[in-house]
Amino acid sequence: MIMGGPPPFMFLRIDEEKVARKYHDRVLLAKLVGLSLKYRLYFALTAVSIFARIGFSIAMPFITKFLVDSAVGGDIAALAYWSSVFLALTLLNLATNFAGDYSSSYLASRVMYDLRTAMYRHLHRVRLDQVAQEPVGKITSRIMNDVDTIGNVATMGLLNTIADVITIGGAVVMMWSLSPQLSLVAYVLIPLIAAVNFVIVKQARRVYRETRKKIAEVTSRISQDVSGAAVIQAFSFRRSRNVEEFRRVNEENLRVNVQAEAVTSAMNPAMAVIEALGTVALLVYGGNLAMAGLVSVGTLVAFYSYLSSFFRPIRMLVMFLTTIQSTLAATERVFTFLEWEPEREEGEVETPPQRGEVEFRNVVFGYGDSPVLKNVSFKVKPGEFAAVVGPTGAGKTTIVNLLLRFYEPWSGEILVDGVNAQKYKLSALRSAMVMIPQDPLLVSGTVLDNILLANPKARREDVEQAVRDLGLEFIVESLPQGLDTPVLEGGKNLSVGQRQLVSFLRVFIAKPTILILDEATSSVDPYTEAKLQEALEKLIKGRTTIVIAHRLQTIVRADHIIVVDDGRVVEEGTHEELLRRGGVYAKLYGIQMEALAAKPLAPPA
Ligand SMILES: Nc1ncnc2c1ncn2[C@@H]1O[C@H](COP(=O)(O)OP(=O)(O)OP(=O)(O)O)[C@@H](O)[C@H]1O
Ligand SMILES: [Mg+2]
Repeated sequence: MIMGGPPPFMFLRIDEEKVARKYHDRVLLAKLVGLSLKYRLYFALTAVSIFARIGFSIAMPFITKFLVDSAVGGDIAALAYWSSVFLALTLLNLATNFAGDYSSSYLASRVMYDLRTAMYRHLHRVRLDQVAQEPVGKITSRIMNDVDTIGNVATMGLLNTIADVITIGGAVVMMWSLSPQLSLVAYVLIPLIAAVNFVIVKQARRVYRETRKKIAEVTSRISQDVSGAAVIQAFSFRRSRNVEEFRRVNEENLRVNVQAEAVTSAMNPAMAVIEALGTVALLVYGGNLAMAGLVSVGTLVAFYSYLSSFFRPIRMLVMFLTTIQSTLAATERVFTFLEWEPEREEGEVETPPQRGEVEFRNVVFGYGDSPVLKNVSFKVKPGEFAAVVGPTGAGKTTIVNLLLRFYEPWSGEILVDGVNAQKYKLSALRSAMVMIPQDPLLVSGTVLDNILLANPKARREDVEQAVRDLGLEFIVESLPQGLDTPVLEGGKNLSVGQRQLVSFLRVFIAKPTILILDEATSSVDPYTEAKLQEALEKLIKGRTTIVIAHRLQTIVRADHIIVVDDGRVVEEGTHEELLRRGGVYAKLYGIQMEALAAKPLAPPA
């Protein structure tokens, strides 16, 4: 069984960090590091530049000390020497900073590129039932927002954090070695810094969590409404309501972003006050020590620099701690997405089924918790023209979805040529079947591209020949640029008949063993209808065909009619047999005939 567990349709999770994590923080951090380790050269370059920066920030104040002391002592030679060292190191520092910035941005962009490519590719391989469980917007948000969040942290973020810790440690040690007495001034500040930051981190975490949640809502809302734009615009009251709702979501996004800014900017003044206090204390106390000759002026200046190189990394570290939980949550969303189970391509049977026999044996299946197909059994012989009929929602399309292995049955077996469908290699199984869906799915490209999907080896001439053989030239001519007409998203610029054309041509050039047709409910004009019916007759010849029919007059001459009602096969037989039986089929047929007969007589309303 593939389904189960809690209903999967829960919308945006209320609190992303409180949701039980599948992975430990440690594992997620390792995954983050792993992302950038793929680019060892750039990673190494970034690391080297960061450690060089630490070196500089620890060495520079020391050099300042010598510089100042030689100036105060009037030692011109030493002054010249230390000045040039200072200048050289500053230039070197600038150069490594440039290399570091470049390599780290490259690394971050690369990591994001890789992740997005991997996710997009995965989206095309993943089992359909997994995709169907998550709103499109949430998937988009994973690929866009979450990857953005991860990018910088995976690369610079982690390295910088290590660097910050080392810099703070280094500053503490250097201060101590310069003057233990002065160090005490700095150490006294530590509890104060800790207290202030504790409060800020707590606040900031909350607002950052909010910002992530809100941006996901905004993205989700947009992608939902883009796909439903036509429906929404047709109903103007809905349009204004949508605009209003979006404004509200967007405004909340604005509010939390401003709040996040406020909290983080509050940190700077708070730290600045502490830093100022420390500086004043240092200068008063250190000034006294210097006047008493206990420390040199250079030491005092160097100490002053260390104090500020002590504060900057603390600020960065606090920022990192504020956002790391959100980042880890994003990391988890990205990696769990990549773990969504792909369609199982493996299978011991690699040759596609040749005969085209299809059998369902006690198949039970549902999309959610309750079954849609409740013990379905039937058999379609090779070359047979079978029809599946039944009321809407009976489970007809579901049967076909299972046959194509878009989903797997909870129990029971589906046999193709006597072999369990699951034993086939997926590509082998699907190469033997072509489905004309109820609502033909088209992808971006031209009409011709869409036809060739079914058989990449076919050429343009084959398609043109097929058009003539099927007698459908008139539909091709109705396309603005014929076979080269571009297809817009999902085929929304094509008419129903034009989309049918694509489907039919796909079958013709793919020459499948089994043809499955889920008849469209929306119909075309009588002329096109008749022409398509004629074309269909040609397509049916010599292959197993399973037609899901809504207009029963199209299947009167089927070899075998399977009547499905409420997830069960309730009747089977030919048209005549079923009419004689006087069951569900006879009733459905009777209603349709009456409706057809009544149509011309219907009085104007
Ligand atoms: N992707 C899905 N997720 C959840 N439920 C679904 C999904 N597809 C179909 N269902 C449900 O399964 C049941 C059977 O749907 P199915 O599409 O098989 O009906 P059908 O017989 O093809 O109907 P129609 O004649 O209207 O095309 C319906 O109750 C439907 O709501
Ligand atoms: Mg259907």
